[in-house]
Amino acid sequence: MRALTWQGRHDVRVETVPDPEIVNPRDCIIKVTSTAICGSDLHLYDGYIPGMRSGDILGHEFMGEVVEVGAKSTLEKGQRVIVPFTISCGSCFFCEREQYSACDNSNPAETSDASETLYGYPMGGVFGYSHLTGGYAGGQAEYVRVPYSDVGPLPVPDHLEDDQVLFLTDVLPTGWMAAENAGIEPGDTVAVWGCGPVGLFAVQSAFVMGAHRVIAIDHYPHRLELAKKFGAEILDYREVDVREALAEMTGGIGPDACIDAVGMESHGLAIDNLADTLKAHTYLGTDRAHVFRQVLLACRKGGRVSVPGVYGGLADKIPIGALMEKGLTLKSGQTHMQRYTKPLLEMIEQGKIDSTFLISHHASLEQGPEMYKHWHDDQNSYTKIVLKTDAAAVPAAEKRDRISEPA
Ligand SMILES: NC(=O)c1ccc[n+]([C@@H]2O[C@H](COP(=O)([O-])OP(=O)(O)OC[C@H]3O[C@@H](n4cnc5c(N)ncnc54)[C@H](O)[C@@H]3O)[C@@H](O)[C@H]2O)c1
Ligand SMILES: [Zn+2]
Ligand SMILES: [Zn+2]
Repeated sequence: MRALTWQGRHDVRVETVPDPEIVNPRDCIIKVTSTAICGSDLHLYDGYIPGMRSGDILGHEFMGEVVEVGAKSTLEKGQRVIVPFTISCGSCFFCEREQYSACDNSNPAETSDASETLYGYPMGGVFGYSHLTGGYAGGQAEYVRVPYSDVGPLPVPDHLEDDQVLFLTDVLPTGWMAAENAGIEPGDTVAVWGCGPVGLFAVQSAFVMGAHRVIAIDHYPHRLELAKKFGAEILDYREVDVREALAEMTGGIGPDACIDAVGMESHGLAIDNLADTLKAHTYLGTDRAHVFRQVLLACRKGGRVSVPGVYGGLADKIPIGALMEKGLTLKSGQTHMQRYTKPLLEMIEQGKIDSTFLISHHASLEQGPEMYKHWHDDQNSYTKIVLKTDAAAVPAAEKRDRISEPA
């Protein structure tokens, strides 16, 4: 089959690799129809996540048709499903508490040792996301093996297009959990850093949860425009001092809740960001925690901080005094996907959530390597890329208008 493989920093290739096979009775095999590139994939592309090996198959946002089932899978051949990016057994201590991304069974011991050293306990498994999270082959491929297929995949109704349900695999539940973790109450003012797919879904979710005002922060005009469409007020962090602007906009009090939907690859020329960048490039550090620092300082006293943005290792100069002295509540984590897929599918069906507004480009799997480059180099115009394994399924108008045909 054809698949996108990671070969090293800024080196993604489309290659022919062996087809996946059923390994365990609870597995199934999915024939992928649509798959998306995520902001998290950028951390792999930029070489910031340890534990990647040359040839690893990328991709954790994918959906398709069930084509093979193990003896204990509850799915049937021919079903159309979305597959959550987290791999969860459904019955361990953590899955029983619906903390699915912390599953204790899905990350094989051989690979979880490294995450245990880094984080104190091993992480759960994730598709296409390094050998720290199980070394599972990802779904930016024609076929993918899905472990614990009786727990994760969710069948979707035929009347909904792939584009309408694809983001149930990650960024929609992630934006939703980010807003939930921010403890939003009706009337709240919420600030969201980052207008990528996660930040944009956090903006939309915050309004659905009753936020009175949402202030979205980024520096890409087109991404800020998308946030504005949902009613957010916007701040370009290159034009204003973000903390001062937020204080001013909230009568000197500060936002009730602050969401860091940027994570470890903050942009910008702030002194602390430059220092973090230097450390990352000289192997003295990993994460650029500028946004997290800013969030802790900008949030109002007694406010709530939610961090869906991925951080991977260590960061210093964190204003821990602000966290404690202001009495902030802090919540974070990889999304507990299986909690949210069904209710959010219902909200899409009822028209309460717009799940397609952020798609800027469709392309074929074969165009994957160039799409990774665009996703990295031109975040302003590329707000979300959907890859189709069947090139004929790429909308024709876009092929003509937006994407150069392969030579
Ligand atoms: N918790 C989870 O389960 C989960 C799931 C998916 C993605 N993520 C993470 O969420 C984060 C966002 O994902 P995405 O797909 O939206 O990524 P993205 O790269 O498309 O978006 C990040 C946005 O942050 C903006 N940004 C950079 N520096 C900023 C700054 N200083 N202030 C304000 N904005 C700034 C960028 O301009 C960009 O628009 C990533 O770290 C990703 O890894 C987490
Ligand atoms: Zn993702
Ligand atoms: Zn489990």
